[in-house]
Amino acid sequence: MRETIKVAMPKGRIYKQASALFRAAGLPISTDFDETRKLIIPLPEANMEFIMAKPVDVPTYVEYGVADIGIVGKDVLMEENKDVYELLDLGIARCRMSVIALPNWKPVIHPRVATKYPNVASEYFRELGQQVDVIKLNGSIELAPLIGLADRIVDMVETGQTLKDNGLVEMEQIFSITSRLIANRVSYRMKNEAIQGLCDQLQKVIPTTTK
Ligand code: PRP
Repeated sequence: MRETIKVAMPKGRIYKQASALFRAAGLPISTDFDETRKLIIPLPEANMEFIMAKPVDVPTYVEYGVADIGIVGKDVLMEENKDVYELLDLGIARCRMSVIALPNWKPVIHPRVATKYPNVASEYFRELGQQVDVIKLNGSIELAPLIGLADRIVDMVETGQTLKDNGLVEMEQIFSITSRLIANRVSYRMKNEAIQGLCDQLQKVIPTTTK
């Protein structure tokens, strides 16, 4: 019998896609959990336990080893820079990180940049050699240029609907984002057979454009 793998799953919009991918890979994961508020979900039939985490916290649970593996967006991985293995690009939750502004934007010498991703934003402008003031916000980032808090924002764009509804435009795409399977370094060694087996199963059902 295989050991139980503890999986840090992102609550919210990525969960359904992630659990559907696991099902496609042949794992018996009930759709009953798609709407649950339960935070720990034992899945003995799949030799797994899901830990339902806020997406930004997934790499922390995995780095500390309280979860063996986790599913997390590349945006969070780039921002959090945790000591974990990135095992697979799962090809789900596809979106991009962009610099966004009002449509009549003009060059600004020392712009204020609002974002949920201060490390990503700082690194991007540092590489461009541009001095900026980064303002950390926790959500509704698109408000910042609308009400005069910032000249630019750095944020995720998925469908583009939020930009459209708020009359904003993408100035530049910084990198594309998909969800990744990550692993704790010790777990990857200690539970290698189980984790590698899961990777092999998932690899067969990852959307082909990312293979
Ligand atoms: C994210 C992101 C954008 C929006 C992009 O916010 O920060 O605001 O989704 O998606 P779209 O291109 O499909 O419109 P989220 O919904 O996570 O909420 P938040 O504002 O609380 O961060």
